Amino acid sequence: MTPETARATPYFTTPGVTIYCGDALKILPYLNPVDVVITDPVWPRTKNASMAGDLGPWELFTRAVKLITPKTKRLIVILGCDSDPRFLKTVPAELPYLVTCWLRRIPPVMKGNILFGAEVAYVFGQPFPWEHTKRILTTECFAVSRGRRDFGNDHPCPRNIAILDWLISKYTAEGQTVLDPFCGSGTTLEAALKAGRKAIGIDIVQHYCDIAAGRCRQPPPLFTEPHPPPLLHFPPHWLPPVVECYVKLRGRRRGINLT
Ligand SMILES: C[S@@+](CC[C@H](N)C(=O)[O-])C[C@H]1O[C@@H](n2cnc3c(N)ncnc32)[C@H](O)[C@@H]1O
Repeated sequence: MTPETARATPYFTTPGVTIYCGDALKILPYLNPVDVVITDPVWPRTKNASMAGDLGPWELFTRAVKLITPKTKRLIVILGCDSDPRFLKTVPAELPYLVTCWLRRIPPVMKGNILFGAEVAYVFGQPFPWEHTKRILTTECFAVSRGRRDFGNDHPCPRNIAILDWLISKYTAEGQTVLDPFCGSGTTLEAALKAGRKAIGIDIVQHYCDIAAGRCRQPPPLFTEPHPPPLLHFPPHWLPPVVECYVKLRGRRRGINLT
């Protein structure tokens, strides 16, 4: 077996899911084209920037996008609302900009003096024909923050499964293949599998690949819902007063009077 073949050898497979353990920059050239890439790369300004290795978040993402572009018609990148959007200038014209989605956190969290109310998903690529989705493509999701981590998931920055459930249901179609080249603990893969999509994940850390594999191995729940209700179904105009009330309470606890 040549080293190149070895690099593209799956670490884990189960019906509908394949996980590669290794450097995405070395594995991506050997993968077949996919329908959609949904990824949560190492963000600029994240406190976990060392996860991007020697290259750093900007260079790692730039090189990965070059490899991803010929393999897909659509790319969805999840970033924090405090991540520099110029990070995405590296996405080429072949993947035109489509929409920005606000992935709202309920409740928001304080990061320094910023009330971190949302993550953002930038959608690039070909428009979605009506026949493909047969639904209106909304651009806001309300996800309840997780109070606890899943048992055994000690990834430093796992995404909320509700966000990935929403993105996959809105921006992919049944039977399509979703690739996450920085899959971490496998949130994208779990959501894709649950929704009847095929999933491919890559992560450089074996421990995270093991967590992702564990999540994809679990049989779907029959009578129990393992996650908190995925989305809050309330009219969006309720949100500003709720957030304002929350900010005032947080401020008062910190001795700040926000009038
Ligand atoms: C922001 S985390 C993804 C978290 C994931 N969305 C989840 O829910 O757990 C980014 C991941 O990229 C992985 N990573 C960093 N450099 C990589 C590389 N060169 N190739 C593949 N994965 C890499 C890190 O190990 C980390 O798990």
